[in-house]
Amino acid sequence: MIESVYSPDENRYVCGMKYRRAGKSGICLPEISLGLWHNFGGVDTLANGRRILHYAFDHGITYFDLADNYGPPYGSAEETFGQVMKSSFRPYRDELFISTKAGHDMWPGPYGNWGSRKHLMAGLDQSLKRMNLEYVDVFYSHRYDPETPLEETMQALVDMVRQGKALYVGLSKYPLDVAAWAYVYLKAHDVPCLLYQGRYSLLVRDPEKQGILAQAMENGAGFIAFSPLAQGLLTSRYLDGIPDDSRIARGGFLKKEALTEEVLRKVKALNELAGQRGQTLAEMSLAWLLKDGLVTSVIVGASSVNQLADNLKALDNTCFSEEELRRIEEILEG
Ligand SMILES: NC(=O)c1ccc[n+]([C@@H]2O[C@H](COP(=O)([O-])OP(=O)(O)OC[C@H]3O[C@@H](n4cnc5c(N)ncnc54)[C@H](OP(=O)(O)O)[C@@H]3O)[C@@H](O)[C@H]2O)c1
Repeated sequence: MIESVYSPDENRYVCGMKYRRAGKSGICLPEISLGLWHNFGGVDTLANGRRILHYAFDHGITYFDLADNYGPPYGSAEETFGQVMKSSFRPYRDELFISTKAGHDMWPGPYGNWGSRKHLMAGLDQSLKRMNLEYVDVFYSHRYDPETPLEETMQALVDMVRQGKALYVGLSKYPLDVAAWAYVYLKAHDVPCLLYQGRYSLLVRDPEKQGILAQAMENGAGFIAFSPLAQGLLTSRYLDGIPDDSRIARGGFLKKEALTEEVLRKVKALNELAGQRGQTLAEMSLAWLLKDGLVTSVIVGASSVNQLADNLKALDNTCFSEEELRRIEEILEG
């Protein structure tokens, strides 16, 4: 079948998407972004991935989040994105904000992971080829490497910007004390950290509790929440069992052990509250993250266009009454 040439919806910037400034930078990002960790790999259907990417861009999503090892197999989500870049998105490159990361396991041998200059530089070059890009908008150090001097990792980020291969840099999952040093190093080298990316959802409150959110703000960086739906737990997906086509059933990173009775009880109570607000659980969970100015963007995953469409409806109501917020805390405290 010959694919028709893609032309994006001309109303993409007036259909409800809002944009927030990332810290103290010139960059505004959509409140909801799309991540390609799952559902865009070599094991998935290219046509479905392409449909989701088109739908996202048609609805004002400009930020697409990738990493070298997204798939499976490793590298294949970047290849999928590269194909869509070539076939659809090329004319719109300047409307897109694309990230990649390196630092997790990627290729065999001593240079295939962690935070050495050798790994990060080679990783970025490989990612650019797979994605059919000349540069990424932001390159993240995917995780802190306790064995490599932090100067080496940070200087590699600085040099990527100097080489023009990344416009900005970011940190992912760095512990508070290490991030404090990294922010200072990057700023001192005139490449301030644009974004901190951390796991944050109704079920995972670490960035609040550990001071990571406040630290990002103090350092002029935006905060990006990943797995905002707790990989699907904070949706209707598992309310009545484990569907065959779900992330848990497919044996991904979400294990069935995560769906404890306690979690299910909380999720059901949250679902009821969402219903009272006239939202799905997914919508309420995203709205809660966007209720104040602390989070720049939430990166959602989606295995279908319908899921992404549901998630985008979160933007219709991100206000919570004091009573609703109190009720949420009560439910979570169990
Ligand atoms: N920096 C890091 O280390 C790091 C780590 C993890 C993720 N990330 C980034 O964050 C992105 C998002 O992570 P995530 O995929 O875990 O996010 P998520 O939004 O918490 O979970 C996405 C999954 O939830 C389910 N889902 C989503 N919307 C739904 C809806 N409306 N109704 C029912 N189910 C729905 C789908 O599961 P099914 O597949 O079961 O349908 C989907 O694949 C990743 O793609 C990646 O870009 C970064």
